[in-house]
Amino acid sequence: MSSIESLGDLRGKRVLVRSDLNVPLEDRDGTAHISDDGRIRASVPTIQRLAESGARVVVTAHLGRPDGTPNPKYSLAPVAERLGELLGRDVRFATDTVGASAQQVVAGLGDGDVALLENVRFNAGETSKDDAERGAFADQLVALADAFVSDGFGVVHRKQASVYDVATRLPSAMGGLVAAEVDVLRRLTDSPERPYVVVLGGSKVSDKLGVIDNLIEKADSLLIGGGMVFTFLAAQGHEVGKSLLEADQIETCQRYLAEAKERGVQILLPTDVVVDTAFPSGDREPTPSVVAADAIPADALGLDIGPASAAAFAAVLREARTVFWNGPMGVFEVAAFAEGTRAVAQALTEIDGLSVVGGGDSAAAVRLLGFDEAAFGHISTGGGASLEFLEGKVLPGISVIEGN
Ligand code: 3PG
Repeated sequence: MSSIESLGDLRGKRVLVRSDLNVPLEDRDGTAHISDDGRIRASVPTIQRLAESGARVVVTAHLGRPDGTPNPKYSLAPVAERLGELLGRDVRFATDTVGASAQQVVAGLGDGDVALLENVRFNAGETSKDDAERGAFADQLVALADAFVSDGFGVVHRKQASVYDVATRLPSAMGGLVAAEVDVLRRLTDSPERPYVVVLGGSKVSDKLGVIDNLIEKADSLLIGGGMVFTFLAAQGHEVGKSLLEADQIETCQRYLAEAKERGVQILLPTDVVVDTAFPSGDREPTPSVVAADAIPADALGLDIGPASAAAFAAVLREARTVFWNGPMGVFEVAAFAEGTRAVAQALTEIDGLSVVGGGDSAAAVRLLGFDEAAFGHISTGGGASLEFLEGKVLPGISVIEGN
C-alpha cells in the first residue's frame, strides 16, 4: 500500500489531505458545539506528521449531507477551531472549498502550515454520479495541491471527487489512519481468531443485509440488538407492539435464521427488552419497564435489550477471541435505555483477544458512556465504510490508491 513515505520529500509541497471530520454537532443557544470529537482526534496524527515534514497541508472534509449547496448549518468552521486546538497549531479556514477564499488561503500557506477548506459537499460535483461533473470538480481541488493523502477512512466507500477522483490525478498515498483501519479490519476478514463473535445493533436491518449475509459464513456467533431486533422477533412470529419494524425484511430475517441454523452459526436474540409507551423526548420523563421479548404489549415499544439478555450477550462475549461490534443495543443517549449498550461495551473491554468497535454510533456510545478508549482493541472511525469492508466489497477510496 502506498504510504506517505512514497511521496518523497514533502517540504514546501501543497498536500491535499482528505479527512473524515463528520462529527455530531448540537445546537447550544444558537452556537454549534461538537458533541463527539473522536473523528477529529483520529485525524490529527497524519495532519501533524505532514506539517512536521514541512508540507503545506490543505485539509478537505465533509460535514453531513448538504446536497451540493452551501448551508451554514453544515459549516466546518467549528471543526476548524477544534482541529486547531488539538493540533496546537493555527488552522486557516477557507470559507469556500475551491473558490477565491480557498485559493487565497492556500497561496498564503508557509511550510508546515495547515488550512481547512469549507465543507466539500457544498459543491455538487463532489457527490455527482456523473464522472465528468465529478472529474471537473476534482480538477479544481487538484489545482490547490501537488500531492494527495487519503486519510478519511469513514468515506473510503464513497466514489466521490475528494475521495476517488483526486487520487487518479495526483501522486497519492494512504494516511496513517486509513492504513491502521485497513490493517485491523483485514485481521477480521482474513484470519479471525475463534470464537469470532459479531454484535450488530442500530435501527435498521436493511442497512445490515450485506454484512449479515457475509458474516453468517464467517462468524461463530451473531448477537443482535437495537431497533433491528424487532424485525427478527417478528420473523420468529412474535408481536412487537409499536416497536420499530421493517415488515418488508421479515422474510429476509427468516432466511437468515434458517441459514444460520443450517451452518451451525449461533444467532442470539434478546429474551427480554426494555419498553416504554413512547419514544423518549425532551419533554417527557421515560417510564421504562422490562418485558419478555415474546410478550411485548401492543401499546409498548422496545428501546433497549433487557438485563437478562445483556448478561447473556456479555457471557458469549467473554469467551470470544475476536469481536466486531457495530450499532448500539438501544437508545443509549437516554440513561433509562443505555444499559444494554453499556453491558456490551463493558464485555468488549474484558475480552482476551481483539475487540473492534465499528461505526459512528457505537464509537460515540463508548465515549458518551465514559469508557476509556484504550480499553478496546480498535475503535474504527468508519460506520458504513467498516461494514462495507467486512462485506468484502471493493472500496473505491482504497482501491484507487492501491492501484496507483
Ligand atoms: C459517516 O458518517 O459514516 C461518514 O462520514 C460518511 O458519511 P456519509 O454516509 O454521509 O457519506
